Formats: sequence, structure tokens, C-alpha cells
Amino acid sequence: MRKISLSNVQSGMKLARSIYTENGHILLGAGMELKQAYINRLKDCNISEIYIEDEISKDIDVRDVINERTRVEAKALIKNIMDECKTTSHFTSDRVKSMVNRIIDELLENKDILVNLSDLKTVDDYTFAHSVNVCVLSLITGIRLGLNQLRLRDLGVGALLHDIGKVVIPEEILKKPSQLTDDEFEKIKQHTVLGYQMVKDNPNISASSAYIVLGHHERFDGSGYPLKIKGENIHLFARIVAIADVYDALTSDRVYRKKIKVHEVIEYITALGAQQFDKTILQCFVRNIALYPVGTGVLLSDGAKGIIVDVNRELPTRPIVRIIYNNNGQKADAFTEIDLTKRLNIMIVDTCEI
Ligand SMILES: [Fe+2]
Repeated sequence: MRKISLSNVQSGMKLARSIYTENGHILLGAGMELKQAYINRLKDCNISEIYIEDEISKDIDVRDVINERTRVEAKALIKNIMDECKTTSHFTSDRVKSMVNRIIDELLENKDILVNLSDLKTVDDYTFAHSVNVCVLSLITGIRLGLNQLRLRDLGVGALLHDIGKVVIPEEILKKPSQLTDDEFEKIKQHTVLGYQMVKDNPNISASSAYIVLGHHERFDGSGYPLKIKGENIHLFARIVAIADVYDALTSDRVYRKKIKVHEVIEYITALGAQQFDKTILQCFVRNIALYPVGTGVLLSDGAKGIIVDVNRELPTRPIVRIIYNNNGQKADAFTEIDLTKRLNIMIVDTCEI
């Protein structure tokens, strides 16, 4: 399978990964042949990319770090919790811990897989998909940092609930397509304190999980909010979730901007974000992300174009590429695969559509 922009999808193409509604129902199932009506439906849902299966991407398997079912159920769980909080300012579900334990078990089983998959979020289910992604990314980082099972669970629970306070922020501010006024930004900032109040007395939420909800916008250099604390005064868990939160937000389509490519986001958070984040955690985080995810089209420095087939964990800028168009723009007869760790004269210039 390979990833392709919706604008390049044509009817007759075969969908390689299912697309779900915010309630966890299948909108379009994997294997389905795309008709124009379906493509229009995806456009209406503001989906910008999908995975397709075709001749040139045969046998390319994009593996997720957790099961598709788990991801769908986790999204539905966070949606239920947020719906409940909207009316009652608290939630009664005791399923959060068991869901996080399930995610941890799957991540431990798939320890060698880099984060390859950008979850196909619709604009409507952004908050839920984002919450699950932040949970997964935080837990992977926590595992690499050597946290024990109990601490991982507290980290995962807080990460899953980190933006719960957004349920009481008006939708028109959260989804405003233009720049926020100072007043509106102040309102958004309150989601940390308001969220903390919703979870701090919940018997299913530990103090350190609750602290993530309060502290995930604090920054290492003191430039964050709400308490403007800095360095190691910020709880370790909040320092981890801060990075996962920014990474996932930047690699997602938002109402006010398009998603940014993974390798550009990694460059951004390692360079510009160096003061804002804990350096040790950041290095650990980056090591888990496939800079050029499997299934992505890339342009090489010799002019050839190909699809990423596999990644090299130790050398993230040098994955294995299946050449689809050779350097004079002609479709390659036999799709040869080159391992960029062995072809040091060739570099990836950028990602591209094939
Ligand atoms: Fe937040």
C-alpha cells in the first residue's frame, strides 16, 4: 500500500486501509474500490490523504504500532468521556485504565516498529484521534525511557485525557480558521486548569495523571502556561506529553492550516523547539518516529522517484526505496529497491506524490 493525496485519487483505485467515523463505524472499508461518490464523501470529511493498494505498491505493508481495533475503540472511549464531561464536568467510566493497559501491551509487543502511520483523522474526529495519538506517542517515549508498568499506565491515562478541558471551550474558538484574538487565546489556555478540575478528584485518575492535564502546555524554558514553571519543576509526564502533543498537532490537518511533513516537523521540534522541550526526552521521542514513513512517495537526489518500502532504525534518513520512476522520468520496468544505507551518494530530497 501507499499513501496518496485525496486530490490525486481517481475512481477505480482500491482503498488499502479502512476509514472510520468518529463513532468507530467503518465509513469505507479496506479493499473497497473507490467510486467518485466515495471520493466526494472523503472530501466532505476533510480527509486529505488515504492509503491505496496498487501494482506499484504491492507487498508494501504499513504496520501500525497498535491494532486498528484498539485505536478505534480508544477513540470511541475518549469521545464518550468527553461527551459526558460536556454536561456533567466529570466522567464515571472506569475503562480508561484497562484501555491504556491494552495499548501498553500492544506497544511492548511491537517494540521494533517505528511510528509509521499518520492516523487518517477527519476534521470532526481530530480531538479524539489526537488524544489517542498523544497517548501512543507518550507511551512509546515512556517505554524507551524505561518507566515501569505502573508509571506507564499513569502516563498513558493522563495523555489520553490531556485535552479533556477543551469540552467547555466554545467550538467557534477551537475551530476558528483565522488567527485567534488575545482574548480567545486566553480562553483556550483555560482548558488546562478546567480539565484538571474535572479529573483531579476522580477515583480512577492518579495525581500524576491529573497533573498531565494541568501541565502539558508548560515549556522547559518557562514560556508555557498555566503556571509558567520551567525545567524539571515540570513533572516528567507533562514534559513527555508536551512533545507528543506538539508533534501530533503539527503533523495533522487543522481547520486553520494543512499538515506539515513528518521530517519537517522533526527538524522543527529538534531545532526551534530545543529550548521549549526537555532535550533528553526529545532525543528519545525522535528515535521512535519514521522520518519517511513506509508507503510515502519520495524524490531522490539523482532525480528518481520511489516509495518507501522499509525503514532503517539506526539511520532514519536512509530507508529502503522502491524505484518507480527512474532519473529520466520514465516508469521503471522492474521496480528495483535500493537501500540508502548502501548508496551513500543518493539522498532523499523531499517527499512527493507518485
Ligand atoms: Fe492542550
